[in-house]
Amino acid sequence: MRVLGIETSCDETAAGIVEENPDPARRILAHIVASQLAEHRPYGGVVPEIAARAHLDRIDDIIREALKQGGSSLNDLDGVAATCGPGLIGGVMVGAMTGKAIAAAKKLPFIAVNHLEAHALTVRLTHNLEFPYLLLLVSGGHCQLLLVSGVGVYRRLGTTIDDAAGECLDKSAKLLGLGYPGGPMIELAAREGNPRAFTLPRPMLNRQSCDFSFAGLKTAVREIVLNEIGTHTKHASEPEERSLSPPFVSDMAASLQAAISDVISDRVQNAFSILEEEKISINALVTAGGVAANQLFRERLSLIAAEKGLTFIAPPAGLCTDNGAMVAWAGIERLRLGMTNGLDFAARPRWPLES
Ligand code: KG4
Ligand code: ZN
Repeated sequence: MRVLGIETSCDETAAGIVEENPDPARRILAHIVASQLAEHRPYGGVVPEIAARAHLDRIDDIIREALKQGGSSLNDLDGVAATCGPGLIGGVMVGAMTGKAIAAAKKLPFIAVNHLEAHALTVRLTHNLEFPYLLLLVSGGHCQLLLVSGVGVYRRLGTTIDDAAGECLDKSAKLLGLGYPGGPMIELAAREGNPRAFTLPRPMLNRQSCDFSFAGLKTAVREIVLNEIGTHTKHASEPEERSLSPPFVSDMAASLQAAISDVISDRVQNAFSILEEEKISINALVTAGGVAANQLFRERLSLIAAEKGLTFIAPPAGLCTDNGAMVAWAGIERLRLGMTNGLDFAARPRWPLES
């Protein structure tokens, strides 16, 4: 079974081809990701309209490249999968329409993939993991703890009540003048910093639930940064014109990373408690989504999983951030079960995983 996957829900135009055979079980034949970083960088974040146009400009070439890399033609495919939500609707429509057009022209099954489901199932592509498992999905737009029990069988144990962890990292990086996307820049800067240099809040820590909150943390970073700028420049209200010293930036990056890491660990431990109370046993703790590329977060999660005697699994960083292979894989998982969609399936900006 060979499926093409198309991903255009945020700022990556991506296409991947995944094949499943009896032996070798599963292979990524193509994995092409074109990032729009250069287009969005001047604005310090993703501009939806620019993203949609950039996807439209590139999608044909990206798919052509994926077919070439995968040594395939459209005639070799058994299905076409495209992210149909949730995401920035202009971009989602570009990928969904392209996928449907190929499916229609080649009379192939079409699979409308939920972007979150694609992240959630990636670990089955990379590690052949059996259900059920606990998933921490952390990206620029989402921060959720999910019990993944089957294809389409997801129970949300907790979610963010305001910002996602990635948004907190991206906004803080912008304030610190580290550029976009913030997560990798914060991780890099933090290497030189002291994680105890600044006292930052750990929102929701020690509360019973598995919900997250990062808005207060973002504000706390902002206040300290503005205060620091105020002591160095006349333009206290204009972070762009600041002069922050490299040690300040590194210390703040390390302190922020430590705060997010503490919050994430605490929430995951609460999820373990809920599962224990309900006598639900899981096969692993898994993380996915762009923020899951972070090495410190991975180490912390690995430690708390080990304390419970659980395996911790994180897909390689390139398959944690948005890509087409994860969409192709979700397509295979669904196609195997006959879960295909009509060409009238509409792209959607919101699409909760449990639905
Ligand atoms: O999953 P993703 O590629 O797109 C969304 O669906 O949101 O995640 C993007 C997010 C951004 O907030 C980015 O700053 C963050 O993932 N990110 C990281 C790292 N690499 C990407 N955050 C922390 N550490 C990293 N190494
Ligand atoms: Zn994503």
